Amino acid sequence: MTRRKLIAGNWKMNCYKEAGVSLALEIARRYKALSTPSFDVFMAPPFTLLDAVVQATKGTGVWIGAQDCAVEEKGAHTGDVSPEMIKDLGCGGVIVGHSERRADHGETDTLVKEKAKAALRAGLGVIICVGETLQEREAGQALAVVGQQLKGSVPEEAEAGKVVIAYEPVWAIGTGKTPTSADVQEMHAFMRQTLTDMLGSETAQKMQLLYGGSVKPNNAAELLSLPDVDGALIGGASLKADDFWAIAETQLQK
Ligand code: 13P
Repeated sequence: MTRRKLIAGNWKMNCYKEAGVSLALEIARRYKALSTPSFDVFMAPPFTLLDAVVQATKGTGVWIGAQDCAVEEKGAHTGDVSPEMIKDLGCGGVIVGHSERRADHGETDTLVKEKAKAALRAGLGVIICVGETLQEREAGQALAVVGQQLKGSVPEEAEAGKVVIAYEPVWAIGTGKTPTSADVQEMHAFMRQTLTDMLGSETAQKMQLLYGGSVKPNNAAELLSLPDVDGALIGGASLKADDFWAIAETQLQK
């Protein structure tokens, strides 16, 4: 089964307008220059830049999305942004369940699943994040924790092409540390098996599973060559066009 690779950037709470728009323009320009790209590119700027980035990248084939969404469609929810509003801007997707939201805002698997369902309701693609802490890995619980997160966070109606899973070990995010390739492949194969049990083998075989956590130009080729790794979710290195593009370029002619 060949699954199309997805190179995704999560800008987190970074970038003001001018720098953010020029970063997006630069990536979109390079992507558009490829005649038949064999991979997809996704960028998730902060809410404040979504509209400007969508406008700047229109017609380039780059996919833009938000980093979070509310469950409700509209109403008395001060400060929240609904997936319908994100869709209304021209976005194609949203990230839910990032470990920083789970940690900073107490988001549970149940809430993450509700957000994922809301995103699907609005017609957005959704990237659902899972990943264990260092303590959980050292206690030998990484697979069990991620298995539970998948069961709790992925909606029953999830379909390949609409739902993407990102495995991001918490201890690898922003630290420069990554699991060994063997550990990443073990986790991704385990996730695919868990998704097979949950959603059936056809869906699980087609579903894109990303790796995230200190993906850099110097380790991307190896991580992205693992059989069950279908792309990367990139934080720090997505903020520099050259670094992000160097990661994407590992997928040229593949
Ligand atoms: P870094 O690439 O900075 O480790 O961040 C990964 C991440 O959290 C992407 O969502």
